[in-house]
Amino acid sequence: MSVRACVFDAYGTLFDVAGAARIAAAESGGEPGAAEDAAAWADQWPRIAEDWRRKQLEYTWIRACTGAHTDFWQVTADGLDWALEAVGLQGAPALRDRLLALYRDLPAYPEVAATLSTLRDAGLRCAILSNGSPDMLDRAVASAGLDGAFEAVLSVEEVGVFKPDPRVYALIERHLSLPPAQVAFVSANGWDACAAAGFGLTAIWLNRRDAPLDRLHAAPAHVLPDLSPLPDLVRSL
Ligand code: LAC
Repeated sequence: MSVRACVFDAYGTLFDVAGAARIAAAESGGEPGAAEDAAAWADQWPRIAEDWRRKQLEYTWIRACTGAHTDFWQVTADGLDWALEAVGLQGAPALRDRLLALYRDLPAYPEVAATLSTLRDAGLRCAILSNGSPDMLDRAVASAGLDGAFEAVLSVEEVGVFKPDPRVYALIERHLSLPPAQVAFVSANGWDACAAAGFGLTAIWLNRRDAPLDRLHAAPAHVLPDLSPLPDLVRSL
């Protein structure tokens, strides 16, 4: 086994980023108020979830390119404000507050806990490397019941720039003292997996949504549909 550690992206990889909008829609039927607003919100949540995630990521890339760093909680709130305004819900403060509260406690994907436990039993070191700020990540790990599952939870805040800046991927060697090729970097974000491959990590893309491979300067070494086959794959490397 040439790979000694698995380092995971967090949002979209371990934590279900559509969960906040899906749960809010299911629990309330919509912003407290008129029944027609509730019906509209219930219909709109997939679009809000999609726009929210897209804008959140676009803002990270633009802030990384322009040197205008802020933390991931700020771009998460900014992305949500854009997504709500796009469907005419900018005047729904209770909904905004609820969505942000749910984002702090996102559910993990169903296979996450069992996969991490199998990896640890096989002697693999496990860590997170994420755009998330340290407080966001600590809270997400705890609320998903994953306390103790990771030997390190690494945040871009240590270098003050978002992925895919190479200084972020360099945090892995700094903290785990392993060369990039001995680390499997696992991300459900195609661009993140490609950038990690370009950095020299053994990149594994979780293609959770059956999307085409990103056309970039490097490609992931492996593609999986979700985390379940990861322990067998890593043992074979
Ligand atoms: C992260 C984002 C990219 O957790 O999902 O870093």
